[in-house]
Amino acid sequence: GPVHTADLVVFGGTGDLSLRKLLPALYHCDRDGRLSPETRVIAMSRGGLADSDFRGKVDAEVRDSVPVDDPAVWQRFLGRLHHVSVDVGGADRTGWHHLAGLLAGQEDRDRVFYLASPPRTFGPFCRELAEAGLVTPRSRVVLEKPLGHDLPSAQRINDEVGAIFDERQIFRIDHYLGKETVQNLLVLRFANAFLEPVWNSLWIDHVQITAAETVGTPGRRGYYDHAGALRDMVQNHLLQLLTLTAMEPPAQNDREAIRDEKVKVLQALRPITGSEVDRFTVRGQYTGAGDLPGYLDEPGSTPPTESSRRVETFTAIRAEIRNWRWAGVPFYLRTGKRMPYRRSEIVVQFKDVPHSIFPGGSPNRLVLRLQPEEGIELHLMAKEPGAGEVTLKPVPMALSFGKTFTARVPEAYERLLTDVLAGNPTLFMRRDEVEAAWRWIDPILDAWRSAPALPEPYPAGTTGPAGAHELLGRSGRAWHEEE
Ligand code: BG6
Repeated sequence: GPVHTADLVVFGGTGDLSLRKLLPALYHCDRDGRLSPETRVIAMSRGGLADSDFRGKVDAEVRDSVPVDDPAVWQRFLGRLHHVSVDVGGADRTGWHHLAGLLAGQEDRDRVFYLASPPRTFGPFCRELAEAGLVTPRSRVVLEKPLGHDLPSAQRINDEVGAIFDERQIFRIDHYLGKETVQNLLVLRFANAFLEPVWNSLWIDHVQITAAETVGTPGRRGYYDHAGALRDMVQNHLLQLLTLTAMEPPAQNDREAIRDEKVKVLQALRPITGSEVDRFTVRGQYTGAGDLPGYLDEPGSTPPTESSRRVETFTAIRAEIRNWRWAGVPFYLRTGKRMPYRRSEIVVQFKDVPHSIFPGGSPNRLVLRLQPEEGIELHLMAKEPGAGEVTLKPVPMALSFGKTFTARVPEAYERLLTDVLAGNPTLFMRRDEVEAAWRWIDPILDAWRSAPALPEPYPAGTTGPAGAHELLGRSGRAWHEEE
């Protein structure tokens, strides 16, 4: 569609997310001609920077992380950048006046307020914007995660933001929804004929959703002690992958139709409560191994506290969806820091053939890899060449996006920012989705909070604690590990 001129105001504009993800993504949009010539990016922070200081900072810290093949394009990009210092919650109104001055007379532009700041600031910032008269009918607000730390806090934030912005103006980001493979999942399921008939409990034994990371949490203890893997990764990213895997076919590729189907999946999740939490969930925390420090010894953070000792850096959960399609099919979710590999994938494990006439077959498996290398693999049984007895061998039918398509695979944030600027919320979470996800997470958090035991230790660089393997092992299953 046409590219509208927009003013993008980023709170937390000099922060890590902005420098590592948002600004590089915006540069890519600019380079590919997806920003109108007048579009501006206004970074808000406490930093006291002039526009020129901020441009210098971006030139020094961002330029090397993006491909600058035309210096004129880079200069054009820098020219879009502005900086406004705000005294958050303070008496000094100068910053808000400065912002109002920059935006004055530009009411016909799209206006995007991107809150890449801590969630407790979401409500206050929205109120400030409204009081300063800056919220126009063409305004949108983008909320970064974490959206609260439990259901009540999420509801409070949603109420506060909802008092200023209509739901259709609110874009809640989950960057996993911007990943190429995730969007491909819908195309794979709903633009091909052969999968959907077998996409159910008759043919599928179980599903595994893994987001394994090699990184630890250096310097992040302040945040991570109060988040943990369940809030940081499962409540949002992993549950989003689960909904897209499990949802019913929507009637059209439409913002509400897709989100309606997703929320039904979340509502059908079987609650895990009380003593079941022990049976169906696993918590782990990495300990030092070789050169790798344990969670409690990560450098550059505040000293560990009781919360540090109790926080999970790994979790595995056996989820169930109570509906006609999925009854009896476990969905295993797993994520952890300091695992031996960085790999995010959805593995759909099919059942055995109903009646086997060859020895040695193994059931089909479909692997959707989000990273490191986006791709889809279907493991089929084939006959090994030879004149002797028939020998079966699993062979992958593989689609590598990198090898199949010449176009660059965009970063998730590029896709999502493009959608925000175009006003398309399909890949953003609706209020009822976020709250349904918390509703399922909260009882697990409650049970963990009062559990006498600490998370199970696992050495840094391993695939998690023994409990994670038992979670599948006791029903004769195993995690799909790198082959
Ligand atoms: C973020 C989490 O949402 O996702 C981080 O806060 C995590 O802890 C990151 O490292 C993982 O994102 P990706 O795109 O690298 O898989």
